[in-house]
Amino acid sequence: MNKGIFITFEGIEGSGKTTQGKILVEKLKREGFNVLYTYEPGDTQAGKHIRGILLNSEIRINPLCELLLYFADRVQHIEEKIKPSIESGFIVICDRFTDSTFVYQGYARGISIDLIKRLNKVILDKFIPDLTILLDCPAEVGLKRNQKINKKDRFEIENLDFHEKVRRGYLELVQVNKKRFFVLDATQSIDKISEEIYKKVKSIISHGI
Ligand code: TMP
Repeated sequence: MNKGIFITFEGIEGSGKTTQGKILVEKLKREGFNVLYTYEPGDTQAGKHIRGILLNSEIRINPLCELLLYFADRVQHIEEKIKPSIESGFIVICDRFTDSTFVYQGYARGISIDLIKRLNKVILDKFIPDLTILLDCPAEVGLKRNQKINKKDRFEIENLDFHEKVRRGYLELVQVNKKRFFVLDATQSIDKISEEIYKKVKSIISHGI
């Protein structure tokens, strides 16, 4: 059996990652591909508890504790869901992955990028996505979209400046991982974005990374 493909979606709050991830899953399933849709943090039994702590703005945790909980969630997620699915030939579509840790805990919260890199190396041992789709838009646009659905977790209560740092963090990551990232302007229509994503994913399925 061929190995599967690991695709991640990244972007600030309200960038449309979840919508686009789900559209991609539906399109691929319609064509008969085996697809797993998953997300971080929280898509395992243990992960649900970890997510409960991470996103509850009323539970006080310090930045390092937050960082380690994201890694804890990820270790469980990779071992329990992502790796077995890839090994069975599935296309795995994951809403957020390690890039989120670099930008939220690193660029925005201010934890040393070097520390995150070292932890990443030790804990994940070069397990990286084949393709990362970044939906890029100004923080103001994303936050306005989110206000409409009235979400308020630990990160949604952060100010515009925090989310601008997240956005800039992503754009810096793109510069050092040009081959892996596919960046799209998230202010375009849902249909236009989903078409571009689909074209890119199909070309990877047909011709490799
Ligand atoms: P979401 O399910 O709405 O995307 O919420 C997850 C939140 O967790 C989002 O605000 C970003 C944050 N996050 C981090 O700060 N670091 C991480 O490593 C991940 C995966 C998510």
